[in-house]
Amino acid sequence: MPETFYITTAIDYTNSAPHIGHAYEKILADVIARYHRLKGEQVFFLTGVDQHGQKVQQSAAKEGVPPAEFVKGVTQKFVDLWEKLDVKYDEWAATTDERHKRVVQGMLQRLFDEKQIYKDKQAGHYSIRQEQFLTDRERGPNGEFGPEWGQVEFREEENYYFKLNDHKEWLLRYIDNRKDAVIPDFRQLELRNAVEKLSGDLCISRPKSRLDWGIELPFDKDFVTYVWFDALSNYISFAGYDPTIDNYEAQPKEFRDRWSKDTLQVIGKDILIPAHGIYWLIMLHSLGFPNDQIPQLLVHGWWNLGGAKMSKSAGNVVDPELLVEKYGAEALRYYLMNDIVVGGDADFSEERLVTRFNTDLANTLGNLVNRTLNMAHRYREGKVSQVSLVEKNHRECQLLGLTEVHGFEEAFEGGAPKYPSLKPYSVDDAVHHIQAFCFHVNRFVDLEAPWKLAKESPESERLTAVLYTLAESVRVIAILISPVLPKAAHGIFDQLNWKMEPELSGKEERFHLDDAKWGGLPDGHVVGKPVPLFPRIEL
Ligand code: ME8
Ligand code: MG
Repeated sequence: MPETFYITTAIDYTNSAPHIGHAYEKILADVIARYHRLKGEQVFFLTGVDQHGQKVQQSAAKEGVPPAEFVKGVTQKFVDLWEKLDVKYDEWAATTDERHKRVVQGMLQRLFDEKQIYKDKQAGHYSIRQEQFLTDRERGPNGEFGPEWGQVEFREEENYYFKLNDHKEWLLRYIDNRKDAVIPDFRQLELRNAVEKLSGDLCISRPKSRLDWGIELPFDKDFVTYVWFDALSNYISFAGYDPTIDNYEAQPKEFRDRWSKDTLQVIGKDILIPAHGIYWLIMLHSLGFPNDQIPQLLVHGWWNLGGAKMSKSAGNVVDPELLVEKYGAEALRYYLMNDIVVGGDADFSEERLVTRFNTDLANTLGNLVNRTLNMAHRYREGKVSQVSLVEKNHRECQLLGLTEVHGFEEAFEGGAPKYPSLKPYSVDDAVHHIQAFCFHVNRFVDLEAPWKLAKESPESERLTAVLYTLAESVRVIAILISPVLPKAAHGIFDQLNWKMEPELSGKEERFHLDDAKWGGLPDGHVVGKPVPLFPRIEL
């Protein structure tokens, strides 16, 4: 069996409704997952929700409902949103799931039996918002804990600790030996610096006296599991991990097929240090995962608003639900993939969303499809004949760079000698390459001026060849854009009257990266009539 590409996202907190940052991350992972399926790979895409913890317990209390009922309502909002946004995952990770609870308890029991977890007493300042004890390092220049920690109180209690510090040297060596442990590079460096400063172990329990909305410790019923230990475990619990087996090679086949060398975890920049980069990697190592089974972390940046961080308390959160209602899934998917460099931050702007849609999709891609099909009908009754100017290395095609569709695959894969600046998973670059291609094909139409050819010599082979080249361009573009705009890609194929078998309709299997080369449409193929794909958004 071929190895599976296993991709996950962070699981979103269910203490409040989804926001635009959540949507960005799920769409980014969805686009990467779709790209791998387009290549013909087996993909397992996991996403879900983080339902336990103090914040959820507090939000539920505020509404006067039990936490279980509260998270059900919020979870439904996430499920509905991913459906509307065409985020197509294979498994849903909800941390109140019984299967997940059993795995987390199994992991804890094993680490406890192996003496990697011990009981100790701690006294100090505790941030309720971040659910962690604070040290003097967290104090601001004025000696106080800043507003980012929310309400801080003094606490003294017994808890269970995981021996994080024992694995510090291992983690440093792992990072030093793997250049792409974290993407982008500057985040890997940040992580390295943080690990060097690591001291102390990780408190993995909370006494039930103050928090009971969590997974009970298997060895002490007076405690629940710290929400991060619980949440991070989702990545293995929902992939079929058996916590009673310490040897990775002896794990169930289902698990090893998914969790292999090709595991990519997509997370935001705020949860690299310490959660994923330190706690999670050490958890895996301590459970017996070999170094070559440690997942790669793709760290994306944040969407801000007017240069400022979005936050519920500041009341400047962008609601993706409203945007989908207003502009549709494709407009939002396109904007979010196009207008931010993967790894960097960006400012959200509804105006830019509209401009990009109108400029890139309505005026460029939509217009290209429309004029291609119109001219095919006007001059050849919709019939295309296999004479490709691209294959003949026609001068205009070469000048415009149409002889090869450059840069798209390289933008996903990275490390291409021809495009040294392309980093892996630069989805924004992939979108820009397709966009540039659409632009050049439109230029090609203007240069060839088929309307002039039609007047001068309506039956000429040149006109036939121009029309075929256009139809082929449109077909190739549909395939390439399909990970980002699945609906539009199907729309283009439908209008091309191509791959119309009912079992392919609306299915991803309709598109293959191997087909994105010239000469796919057979001689005599009859294309359909154009229907507007991207009606302009008028404000
Ligand atoms: O951190 N722009 O959940 P979460 C881009 N449950 N991404 C953003 C963002 C923004 N403005 N705001 C948040 C959690 N994110 C935990 C994760 S994983 C085992 C547990 C991203 O709902 C954020 O970086 O606060 C994170 O990757 C994801 O949304 C969920 O954030
Ligand atoms: Mg795999």
